[in-house]
Amino acid sequence: MTALVHTRAELQPFLDGFANGKRGVVMTMGALHEGHLELFKQARHDCDLVVATIFVNPLQFGPNEDFDRYPRTLDDDLKLCAEAGVDVVYAPAVEEVYPGGQPIVKVTPGPMGETLEGAFRPGFFTGVLTIVNKLLNLTDPDKAFFGQKDAQQLALVRRMVLDLNMPVEIIGVPTVRDEDGLAKSSRNRYLSSEERATALTLSRALFAGQEKATEGADAVRDAANAVLERTTATGELTVDYLALVDPRDFSEVPPAFTGQAVLAVAARAGTTRLIDNLPLTLTPHGAR
Ligand code: PAF
Repeated sequence: MTALVHTRAELQPFLDGFANGKRGVVMTMGALHEGHLELFKQARHDCDLVVATIFVNPLQFGPNEDFDRYPRTLDDDLKLCAEAGVDVVYAPAVEEVYPGGQPIVKVTPGPMGETLEGAFRPGFFTGVLTIVNKLLNLTDPDKAFFGQKDAQQLALVRRMVLDLNMPVEIIGVPTVRDEDGLAKSSRNRYLSSEERATALTLSRALFAGQEKATEGADAVRDAANAVLERTTATGELTVDYLALVDPRDFSEVPPAFTGQAVLAVAARAGTTRLIDNLPLTLTPHGAR
């Protein structure tokens, strides 16, 4: 049985019940899918108490973004949480999370939050880090689980926890994909079947790039761009960025770079904006 609570006061007895156990939190905006299931599964494996939060955070949506139309599917979400063995769903009201109205004090991400997603969605990561910080305070977990699909978000959350000495362990969980490669996302449900076919270009571009990891950064970018260009040429896909970055700061890697990198892409199919990424290891040119 999964309990549903809406206030911090209602959540407290669950937290008290596991004061000496491991408490885990999975933060979500609802519209749950198999990617979230993987997060719940990992949390269930690692923790005695699993709390899922469902909160569509207004602070991380820009004025022209999809806050109003973001899917809100609480009944289905609760069923999925029950199947996944989540103990408690905490779905607070905006007034509980932002008791002072629009917050004056926020968590700002610094330069790592100004590239890629941060460049295309000004203020996005301030909204994300502020809510993650708040939800960590409200749920007081030992571990918090985040998807690697939002690689820049995950890196910034890790950095916030380090920089602000926050007593929580951050766990990254691998991206879940449909059989044909499309990364699971709450926003996939906006896609028509034609747009979904177009959206597949994102993962195809990333896998094409990954295959060139032994040939250097430029070869990776070229291979990925070649796949994207076929779909952008017809106007079906609008690419915001394709970037090969250093996961330590999300800056573009130079051509001779070797080591861990992230190949990241963001693009719009119709009016739906999607992101995806793959981690890869760039080996010295010619090395195996
Ligand atoms: O990844 C998400 O769904 C959101 O950015 C998060 C972490 C729940 C914060 O609102």
